[in-house]
This record gives sequence, structure tokens and C-alpha cells, in this order.
Amino acid sequence: MPHPESLPVIRPDIVRLADSGIREVAHFGMQLGGVTPLWFGEPDLPTPDFICEAANQALKAGHVFYTESAGVPALRQALADYLTPLNGKPIRADRIVVTASGMNAIQIVMQSLVDYGTNVVTTSPLWPNCAETVRIMGGEVRPVELTMGNEGWQLDLDRLLEACDGNTRAIFINSPNNPTGWVMPSEQQRQLVAFAREKGLWIIADEVYDRMVYEGRRAPSFLEIAGEDDPVLVINSFSKSWSMTGWRMGWITAPPGIIPTLLKMNEFNTASAATFAQHAGIVAVQQGEDFIARSVARYREGRDIVYDRLSRHPRIRMVQPKGAFYHFFALDGMTDSVAFAKRLVAEQRVGLAPGAAFGPGGEGHLRLCFASAPATLHDCLDRIETLLG
Ligand SMILES: Cc1ncc(COP(=O)(O)O)c(C=O)c1O
Repeated sequence: MPHPESLPVIRPDIVRLADSGIREVAHFGMQLGGVTPLWFGEPDLPTPDFICEAANQALKAGHVFYTESAGVPALRQALADYLTPLNGKPIRADRIVVTASGMNAIQIVMQSLVDYGTNVVTTSPLWPNCAETVRIMGGEVRPVELTMGNEGWQLDLDRLLEACDGNTRAIFINSPNNPTGWVMPSEQQRQLVAFAREKGLWIIADEVYDRMVYEGRRAPSFLEIAGEDDPVLVINSFSKSWSMTGWRMGWITAPPGIIPTLLKMNEFNTASAATFAQHAGIVAVQQGEDFIARSVARYREGRDIVYDRLSRHPRIRMVQPKGAFYHFFALDGMTDSVAFAKRLVAEQRVGLAPGAAFGPGGEGHLRLCFASAPATLHDCLDRIETLLG
């Protein structure tokens, strides 16, 4: 987008940022109206009542003022108690910083690490917002493409390591991955932590979908592998596990040495996540296991419905995702996924995200969020099939 000439300078890095291709299609669809939206990554179930009730109680109890920039102490402790059994080792509350969303956690981390002349190595395709936070800071994004094979999406770890150089500040790993559903195996995590220690660079692990997995209770986490002082920052969120996308709450688990930096960045960005929401977060992590199990069962059903129908189509190539709640499928002959997604919206009123929005390796694909009721998914699949013929 060109710089608006009538205005004083806006940072060129920011003017150059591309508009999100997902938003472009969604905006087009919202103007038309009547579109079933499977383009965003959002659970279709509302936040469970017991969490909303805790927020009501917190408001009534007067938790409406500024709070500690690290987060409400009881929430940090509740998160430590939640993470300790999941990781099979103690995670202390003083390693946790509560943030105003997972996205805000990524911003704070990038603000703390990325500078002009530095780069961040990452896998691709990837949810675009993660890469843009690097560019906003003036850094370079170095994408290494995942490949889709019979065993699902795979990462060639050597290629990732080869992409790092003396200016690499961090390796960003989003697993379970948006959009592919790829889950990084523990063995690769182990090798990556050893590499980061040796080379003196950070691992930023975006684990916001850690509980959205179709085998086991949780995806392998860098927290299970990294020692307390290893250069590993693990980002998580309340959005996906507890259906709280609109609450804007997340957290970072970090080595003690960087906590003062993260607290400064919290202070200078948002001061903290909303205080009453943090009080509700306490009951989410303490009492949310049944809800998570129900949600995952529902997503599994959606995942299988979409796979059973679309994988039969001769133009579609796809694998079952191991985590998150997206199918990211290749459509043979499609060279412009934004144009195709707009056509699907205009002619069939179904909203999918265009693969091109997810960076290198994304074009030629479409992303469908299957966190919806079976009847809704069947209806959308009917309409997609009509367009595909
Ligand atoms: C990979 C990934 N990371 C981070 C986030 C941020 O989640 P939130 O800002 O809602 O906590 C999302 C949301 O879609 C995501 O897909």
C-alpha cells in the first residue's frame, strides 16, 4: 500500500506490511452477507458458564483496577499448578508472565528480541500474524517450508538449522501448527533445544493449540525438554483451550533471567491483561479439563467429517491434522487461492482462508476451520463440492 501523501511519515516497514489475506476474503464475504464463516480460527462453542460466572463475581468483588504487570499472583500460581503435572516437573509461578492475549505475548517477545539486521527462522506455512510481528520490529523472517507427505506434514530439521546464521535471534516454532496441524515430535524439540543452547539463540515456542490434539492429552511441549535456564520462551493462550478468544488473555513461561525484561514490556504495552478476566482465568485452568475433553471430541468429529468427504475428491490432496482445528488442503489447478476463496464466498456463501495468506508453501491450498457443528460442516461441504464439480 503506498504511503498516504497528505500525511507526515509513517514508518516504511509498517506501510509495507501486507494486509492479511484472511481478512481480505472475510471482509469481502461480510459485505455480501449470509456467508458461513470457516475462515477464522475460533471455537464455535461459547466460553463455559463457570468461567463467565467467575468473571461476574470478580467484577462484583471490585477487581476492576490495575494489577501487577506479571499478572494476578493467584493466576500465576494456578498456571504453575496447571503446568506442573502436564510437564511432569515443577514449573514455578515466578517464571510465568500473564499477557493480554497470546498475540500480545508474541509481540512482547519480539519487541524484546528482534532488532534491525537480525532475523527469525520459522516454519512455513504459518499464521501470518506471527511473521508480521518480526517485520514490525524491522527484523527479517526466514521461512523454512514444511512438506506434506503420506505421514502428514513434516519438517526437515537440518534445513531449519541451516537457515540460521550469526544474525539469527530466534527460531519460532508453532506446534500444533496453524494452518497445517503439524505437531513437532519431542525428538526434534530436543535437538532444537541443544542447537539453541550451543548457538546462543532463542526458541520461541507458540503452543496455543497444545491441548487441541487427536492423540494423547497434550502435544509435546518445549517445557518438558528445556531446563529452567534454557533460552526457551513458551507462549500460550486462554483463547483456544477454554473458548475465550474474545477475552484476550495469554501467558509466557520463561527462564528467570528474562522475566524482568518481560515485565517491563508488559508494563509499557498494556500494563496487564484485564484484572477481572484474570480472576476468571483461575477457574478456567483449575476446572476446565472436562470442557477441553468435550471440545476436542467435538473437533475430532468435525475433522473426520471434512476428511472423509474432501479427501475423496480427485482434485484435493490432504492429510489428517494431528493438532489444532484446521484442514489445510491442496487443490490441484488452483493458482490464486485469494481469487478462489472469493469465488467460493460469492457463489456458494462458504468462507475459507486462502493458503497464500500463510506465506511460502501456502499458495495452492485452502484452510478450513472445522470447529463447527456437524450439520454446518456438511452443508458447507455440499456447497464446496458443488463449486468443485
Ligand atoms: C498460531 C497462533 N498463535 C497465536 C494465536 C493468538 O491467539 P490469541 O491472541 O487469541 O491468544 C493464534 C490465534 O489464532 C494462533 O493461531
